[in-house]
Amino acid sequence: MKAVCWQGTNKVEVETVPDPKIINPRDAIVKITSTAICGSDLHLYNGYNPAMKPGDILGHEFMGEIVELGSAFKNGNIHNKGKDLAIGDRVVVPFTISCGSCFFCNRDLWSLCDNSNPNAWMAEKMMGHSPSGLFGYSHLTGGYAGGQAEYARVPFADVGLFKIPDGLADEQVLFFTDIFPTGYMAAENCDIQPGDTVAIWGCGPVGQFAIRSAFMLGAGRVIAIDRVPERLQMAKDGGAEILNYEEIEVGEALKEMTGGMGPDSVMDAVGMEAHGMGLEGFYDKAMQAVRLETDRPNVLRQAIVACRKGGTVSVPGVYTGFVDKIPMGAFMNKGLTMKTGQTHVHRYLERLLERVQNGDIDPSFVITHRLPLEQAPHGYEIFKDKKDNCIKIVLKPGQAA
Ligand SMILES: NC(=O)c1ccc[n+]([C@@H]2O[C@H](COP(=O)([O-])OP(=O)(O)OC[C@H]3O[C@@H](n4cnc5c(N)ncnc54)[C@H](O)[C@@H]3O)[C@@H](O)[C@H]2O)c1
Ligand SMILES: [Zn+2]
Ligand SMILES: [Zn+2]
Repeated sequence: MKAVCWQGTNKVEVETVPDPKIINPRDAIVKITSTAICGSDLHLYNGYNPAMKPGDILGHEFMGEIVELGSAFKNGNIHNKGKDLAIGDRVVVPFTISCGSCFFCNRDLWSLCDNSNPNAWMAEKMMGHSPSGLFGYSHLTGGYAGGQAEYARVPFADVGLFKIPDGLADEQVLFFTDIFPTGYMAAENCDIQPGDTVAIWGCGPVGQFAIRSAFMLGAGRVIAIDRVPERLQMAKDGGAEILNYEEIEVGEALKEMTGGMGPDSVMDAVGMEAHGMGLEGFYDKAMQAVRLETDRPNVLRQAIVACRKGGTVSVPGVYTGFVDKIPMGAFMNKGLTMKTGQTHVHRYLERLLERVQNGDIDPSFVITHRLPLEQAPHGYEIFKDKKDNCIKIVLKPGQAA
C-alpha cells in the first residue's frame, strides 16, 4: 500500500510499504477513505520528537471502512459498544489507543490507558509514567503505524472504533478523531460559567474548534489570538473577537477588554512551538536550539499572566519536555487552576455526534484543502508555512494524484 513516511526533519515521502496485518484477536484493519494532517504532525515534521525513525508512517486523524477483523470478533465474544462489528462498517478511529479495561479507561481517562503503549518504559524515563499509545506519533507512544495511508491496523478495535450512522459525509465526522474533541475538551477544561470570557491563543484547527465549543458550553465572549489573517478571519466567523499579536500588546488589550479583570479562563491552543516576539522569543529559540529547553512556552507564560485571579488555564497545546521561566509566582498567587492532557477522545464521540446531527456545528468548516494522498509532501509544506491560506488539509487515499 501507499503511506506517508517520515524521513527526517522537513521531509516526508509517499512510499510503497507492506500492508498491515491482523496481529492480535481484537485488531481490525481499516481501509482509509479520509485522513488529515494535524498541528501535532508538525512537531514531528519539524524534528522536535527524538523518538521518530526514518520510515515511520505518519497520521492519527483517519477514518474508513473495516476490511478485516481479528478472531475475537469472529467468535462473537467481543462487541463494540454492545453491537457487533462487521466488514464494511464505516468507522472513525480515535487517535488515542485505549484498552477499555484498565484503571484509567475505567475512569473515562482514555488517553492515559495503561495497556496500549508497548514502549511505556521510554515515556516513564521522561515523565514518570506513560500516556496511552497513539497512532503515528513516534516510538515514545508505541511506534504504531499511522493513518496517512491506504490501510491501518487498529488495536482494541472493540473499544476504539466508532461506527458512523448513514447519511453523514466523511468530512462531517473525520475530525471526531482528534481536533473536534480536542477543542471541546479544552473548552470543557476552562470550567466555563454562563457568560464567561475565554481567551484562546492559536487559531489553528484546534483553536477553531475550541472557539465554537466554548460558545456551545455557554461562554459569553471568546477572544482569539493569532497573527495569520485568514485564521483570525475564521475565528471571527465563529463569533470570536480577534487580536493580532503582531499589532498589539495582547496582555494590555485583554485587560482593557475585560475592565481590568482579565479573562475568566485562558487557553493555550498553540503548544511547544509558539512563535515568540522580541527578546523573550529570541531567548526561547536559543535555549531550544542548544537543548537547554525542549519546548518554547511563550504562550503559556502570557496566558498565565493574563488570566483573571482564580481563573483556569486550559492547555490543549502539546508539550513534550521541559520549559523555562514559567511565571509560577503569578500562577500560585493568583490561585489559578491548570487543566491539560492528550484528549480523552472516546469520552466525547457520542455527544459530538449529537451536536453534528442536531445541526449545532458542521465540522467541515475548517477544511481549506483536499488533496490526494500522493500530494502529502506538498500538503505538509503549505500547512507548515501557512501558504495558500492553508488551515486544514484532508488527504484522500485512492484518489488519482
Ligand atoms: N491535546 C491534544 O490531544 C491535542 C490534539 C491535537 C492537537 N494538539 C496540539 O494543539 C496545538 C494546535 O494544533 P493545530 O492543529 O491547531 O496547530 P497549528 O500549528 O495549525 O496552529 C497553531 C496556531 O498558533 C499560532 N501561534 C503561534 N505562535 C503564537 C503566539 N505566540 N500567539 C498566538 N498564536 C500563535 C499559529 O499562527 C497557528 O495559527 C498543537 O500544539 C497540537 O500539537 C493537541
Ligand atoms: Zn491531531
Ligand atoms: Zn486502558
